[in-house]
Amino acid sequence: MPAFFLFFVLISCRQTIQLPEERQVFGFDPKFEPAIDSILQLLTLEEKVHMVHGSGTFVSGGVERLGIPELCYTDGPTGIREEIARSSWEPMNLTTDSVTFFPTGTALSATWNEELAFRYGKAIGSEANARGKHILLAPAVNIIRTPICGRNFEYFSEDPFLNSKLTVGYIRGLQSQNVAACVKHFAVNNQEFQRWNINVLMDERTLREIYLPVYKAAATEADAYTFMGAYNKFRSDWLCENDYLLHKILKEEWGYKGAVISDWGGTHSTVKAALAGLDVEMGGRFNQYFFSSLTDSVRVGLVPESVIDDKVRRILRVMYNCKTMDSTRIAGKTNTAENVQMVYDVACESIVLLKNERNLLPLNIDSIKSIAIIGENAMQVQSRGGFTASVKARYEITPLEGIKKKVANTIEIQYAPGYAEKFVIADTGGFWPYRYPDPNPNMELIEEAVTAAKNSDIAIIFAGNNRNVETEVVDRETLHLPFGQDELIKAVTAVNPNTIVVVIAGAACDLNITDSVASTILYAWFNGSEAGNALAAVLFGDVNPSGKLPFTIPVRLEDIGAHALHAYPGKNGEVEYTEGILVGYRWFDTQQIEPNYCFGHGLSYTVFEYTRARINRKAYSPDQEIKLTITVRNTGSLAGKETLQLYIRKKDSEVMRADKELKGFKKIELQPGEEKSLTITLDINDLAHYSMKQGCWIVETGEYNLLLGSSSRDIRKELVFRVKSL
Ligand code: BGC
Repeated sequence: MPAFFLFFVLISCRQTIQLPEERQVFGFDPKFEPAIDSILQLLTLEEKVHMVHGSGTFVSGGVERLGIPELCYTDGPTGIREEIARSSWEPMNLTTDSVTFFPTGTALSATWNEELAFRYGKAIGSEANARGKHILLAPAVNIIRTPICGRNFEYFSEDPFLNSKLTVGYIRGLQSQNVAACVKHFAVNNQEFQRWNINVLMDERTLREIYLPVYKAAATEADAYTFMGAYNKFRSDWLCENDYLLHKILKEEWGYKGAVISDWGGTHSTVKAALAGLDVEMGGRFNQYFFSSLTDSVRVGLVPESVIDDKVRRILRVMYNCKTMDSTRIAGKTNTAENVQMVYDVACESIVLLKNERNLLPLNIDSIKSIAIIGENAMQVQSRGGFTASVKARYEITPLEGIKKKVANTIEIQYAPGYAEKFVIADTGGFWPYRYPDPNPNMELIEEAVTAAKNSDIAIIFAGNNRNVETEVVDRETLHLPFGQDELIKAVTAVNPNTIVVVIAGAACDLNITDSVASTILYAWFNGSEAGNALAAVLFGDVNPSGKLPFTIPVRLEDIGAHALHAYPGKNGEVEYTEGILVGYRWFDTQQIEPNYCFGHGLSYTVFEYTRARINRKAYSPDQEIKLTITVRNTGSLAGKETLQLYIRKKDSEVMRADKELKGFKKIELQPGEEKSLTITLDINDLAHYSMKQGCWIVETGEYNLLLGSSSRDIRKELVFRVKSL
């Protein structure tokens, strides 16, 4: 056995939480604890129980006698949901509740920009405040395990590191506005199929390395004030009464001080849920468990009163930290110029240039006389649909509007829908009737689009999904572009080689046909109120694209680990994640499967060169930091932004490891000819894997590779170092 197998550096068998400096700024402030203790003394058991369940669809109980207000909740995650009646799900049809539509989760994540995530959180927090909300049911951070999960557009990534970084930024920004985050859905809620009852199984290493890191970061780095327990089961226990996840891991191991709120209608018991760590029962059926029998359960001794005190203490902590009883609470505003600028900036930075083989982009306004704009998505509003993440937008600029605003005075624009949204209802006998997009092309619309494309210098096809195709409650059945779009793309590119395909989607789509016929592809998203303006800016070169894919686009659905192993959607109410830690690019790279577009991919209108990559040592002991420096140079003629990605590889591990794992990234802006030196610092603990044998995190000694690249498969520099024992 080689010598490096003999030594391990054991870390965090008992996790101790290091409090970073900024914790006091964004997190729970200990100065409120004495006041919370005093209030607790004054509350009767009935009053306390009243505070731990819903008193309306989106409110939980307050105590008027003591001036404790109700807590007001709202969805999230991409804008403040329209007002719903107090005790039903009926919209109130107000004229005063329209707000900014924020780019959805994968859009934010494609920016790879933590600072933008902070600004995003701050802006959405301000809008929540203006609408009198204390808790935003966001961010939604479940790992993208399969590209067909209906809620991927709300989530961030297939990668736990990128996921965690954006989540921490989002929460800190949000809570800086005195609005509590409600990090959802804790945990392992990675499919909509049977989400209300599926039992999820996986080994401990997979749980710790892939599915929990984002929650740990939310709890320990960002001090998220609340968490939402998911609908499904984990290891046979409902998530809202899962002692292992709620109590042992979240509250004991991570020392979490906030409150756990059930997903709406996700509670299944009184005593078990109360003892396992659920703090607030919410949902349409809000009078179910805690309301009806928690007081009696305490009286007969099934639940100690101290357990109720703990719940109320956590709720009061949220109230104090959000200043719900304080006149200095930030007032907030909706639709401000600052928020509009923020959503524009996120939209611009999120757009991914997948392919620009003939350098068609950026388009030159002066040399183009006519453009055919094709596809319903050019006119489609993406703020509505998708169930609870639907937003009543004050306005939303569609791609067609954005382009017209930019060039209609000088360029002739012709619009042709090219396809028409159509669903086929399939009664699968399930709780929810399944509707799938009709795959058949509409030949008349295609002919009309072909004529428009023939008569124009440039054709731009807006293809992809919409918020009825990607939605909560159902997963997609396939990755194929819906409504016969492949036929449309083939027909249009055949008559006009100057065709650009813009895919509007929140998750991966099958781009095989598009790729075989189109030279130029942009991936855009459900991109918020300013979507159309941002797209026009990228198409005409006012903004140089800098988005990078936060997930892999596979050639085939069966190439994804969960699908290759038939480990989705499960059988007999149970799904076992047998692909283990090999989620997303970890699977593709380890199994050497070529994706269509890899994780982290995204081109620019300029070119970046990486030079002078160095680390501060050749060998490290466990207490030392790895300090990497590298120079990035813009060798093209346009200013642009690049995201340097840092992956690690451990070849001779005693356990199976993924071929590479993202451990750092940095986004920088460079003028033409400019170069900058970047530094990324890694802790030795960042190299750890979770050992199932020893039940804790371990850093193996021996050799490691540091891979530096522009994507997970465009690695430009490789460095080798060793970890030695103390
Ligand atoms: C969703 C949550 C949402 C809640 C309240 C549930 O169906 O899973 O994400 O916050 O409803 O609308």
